[in-house]
Amino acid sequence: MDCTQTIRARRSIRKFKPGQAIPKADVEAMLEAAMMAPSACNSRPWEFFVVENREKINQLNAIHPSAPMLATASLAIVVCGMPQVQTGKCAGYWPLDCGAAIQNLLLQADALGYGACWCGCWPIQERVEAIQNALNTQSIPTALIALGVPDEAPAARGFYQADRVTWL
Ligand SMILES: Cc1cc2nc3c(=O)[nH]c(=O)nc-3n(C[C@H](O)[C@H](O)[C@H](O)COP(=O)(O)O)c2cc1C
Repeated sequence: MDCTQTIRARRSIRKFKPGQAIPKADVEAMLEAAMMAPSACNSRPWEFFVVENREKINQLNAIHPSAPMLATASLAIVVCGMPQVQTGKCAGYWPLDCGAAIQNLLLQADALGYGACWCGCWPIQERVEAIQNALNTQSIPTALIALGVPDEAPAARGFYQADRVTWL
């Protein structure tokens, strides 16, 4: 599938085939896609936690109120922001940069035949702190991405809204 098709076909997947492993090379391709995203001043204010340990996945599931699909996910990737690496005119852009990285990761997952769901973390402070504790990090969890082999094929939900566009 080319990029044009992948962007239009991607869906949040919330039902996975249980017990499916994702090869490390595929996970690395998703992480590489994430790290190819643009960022302010190319500051790359992100780090990634690949969570394969089932107890840790269950712990994240218990913390996050809207991520029940973690129960059958093959793994989770937590995309964390690092505000401290952005200074001067580049400061403060980290949530946007992480968003671009997350979207690249989702699209790469889809293109490789996997399903993914972006589960929001930042700016919900209580959730951020609980996930920081679970991962033992000071970096700021922006999204918890559940990943696996899809067990559903919902139709794409994106659509063009002409009334949200101003042509000058
Ligand atoms: C910032 C953000 C937070 C989200 N958090 C959740 C979540 O906690 N749980 C969930 O099931 N989906 C979550 N989603 C997925 C959205 O519900 C989904 O993208 C939206 O309904 C559009 O559907 P689609 O992704 O299939 O196009 C989140 C998406 C974004 C961008």
